[in-house]
Amino acid sequence: MPTSPWVQGAYEPVLNEIEAFDLEVEGSIPSDLNGILARIGPNPIGEVPPDHNLFNGEGMVHTLTLKNGRAQTYRNRWVRTEPVARKLGEHTDLDPIENTDVANTHIFPFAGSLYALTETAIPYKVNEDLETLGREDFSGFIDTGFSAHPHVDPKTGEMHAIGYDNDADPSVTHYVIAPDGTPLRKNRIALGSAIMIHDFAATETFAIIWDLPLLFDVEAAKRGSKAPYKWTPGYEAKVGLRRLDAEDASVHWFDAPEAFIFHAVNAWEERGEDGSIAKVHCDVIRRDSMFASDSTGPGDMAIPQLYRWTMDLDTGAMTEELIDPRAQEFGRIDDRYWGRKNGFSVTTELFRFTGDTGIIVYDGNGRTQEWSFGKGAATSEAVFVPHDEDAGEGEGYILATATNVAKRTAKAAIFDAQNVKKGPLAEIKLPQRLPVTFHGSWIPEATA
Ligand SMILES: [Fe+2]
Repeated sequence: MPTSPWVQGAYEPVLNEIEAFDLEVEGSIPSDLNGILARIGPNPIGEVPPDHNLFNGEGMVHTLTLKNGRAQTYRNRWVRTEPVARKLGEHTDLDPIENTDVANTHIFPFAGSLYALTETAIPYKVNEDLETLGREDFSGFIDTGFSAHPHVDPKTGEMHAIGYDNDADPSVTHYVIAPDGTPLRKNRIALGSAIMIHDFAATETFAIIWDLPLLFDVEAAKRGSKAPYKWTPGYEAKVGLRRLDAEDASVHWFDAPEAFIFHAVNAWEERGEDGSIAKVHCDVIRRDSMFASDSTGPGDMAIPQLYRWTMDLDTGAMTEELIDPRAQEFGRIDDRYWGRKNGFSVTTELFRFTGDTGIIVYDGNGRTQEWSFGKGAATSEAVFVPHDEDAGEGEGYILATATNVAKRTAKAAIFDAQNVKKGPLAEIKLPQRLPVTFHGSWIPEATA
């Protein structure tokens, strides 16, 4: 029987939940880097069918705690969704739900809690010991799949998210949650078709929402597909600007290229001589198509490249510019610059396209620095950590993990974000292989 590619090689699940202490370190862990690096990804339990969908694999969180220059603890745990608890034979107080019940895409700290997120599901709360605390729908506020990519506005502290589902009229929902976790408002925005939307971007004024040709496939859903989406050439792709403080369903739409975007890197606005917003720029990782013939994972996608999409509010036209043709994904910035013109950003070169994987750091002026973990390594999304809240943009550390598929080993690397080409300041040997993780966060000790 053929085996799913999404449980092999870099995707092969680990079988055990472990804890390890005082990990082996090469180099020197900065003593001011105190906190937890948390990563999450799919780690299926038991046998999977040949048509297994990567994005539905049971979510596992991995944490690495750094303290006073030591790699104090590594820990990994499945998020105990109701299906996970059932598969592990554990008691759970959770009721089964009809909707997707999975938590595998992002691990995100907000309002003193840690959320395990998947776009088609209700968030799960976990604690820093990786015990699952239950689902969190913010007292019934969330009534669609939430999002794996909420963003926190650095000025207001409010969390914004664009959620969707395929049960109702085609739409997305813009959720806004106060810094203390109190729901503030939500607005349902009607669309022409039910789409898959994974992330959004924003400036200081606008959320940027894309309505792209990856459409919900009703027939595939009826057949029981776990990934009922199809690439639909000819669909009128659009990108929309919506005020972050909007209290209605308003969106200013622009025609967009036939392309797919999982993630933005960042966005910002440019003001004209009269002080009004003239243009909105959004750096995105763009592909020509997605899931054109196979929607079980990212094996069937055009090369993802760094583009800049610009919306001109005077002309009503959107234009795009290729910034870097290298295959890459998972752009991250200094989060204090979310929605503002950023200089620093870091992306991950993609294993499948190059066989030589690492990170690319941009300085915003056309200069880049690269670091490769070598052939056969699978590098995770990188995370930036500023030295402290007064540090300049990009002054701090980059943390990334890399798995050597052939040797079945994994490590976490810490870089000086300003001098990546020099190589890691420290490499921490992880006690077991790290399957591909989608996203992660740094949780500073001060808020831990
Ligand atoms: Fe993502």
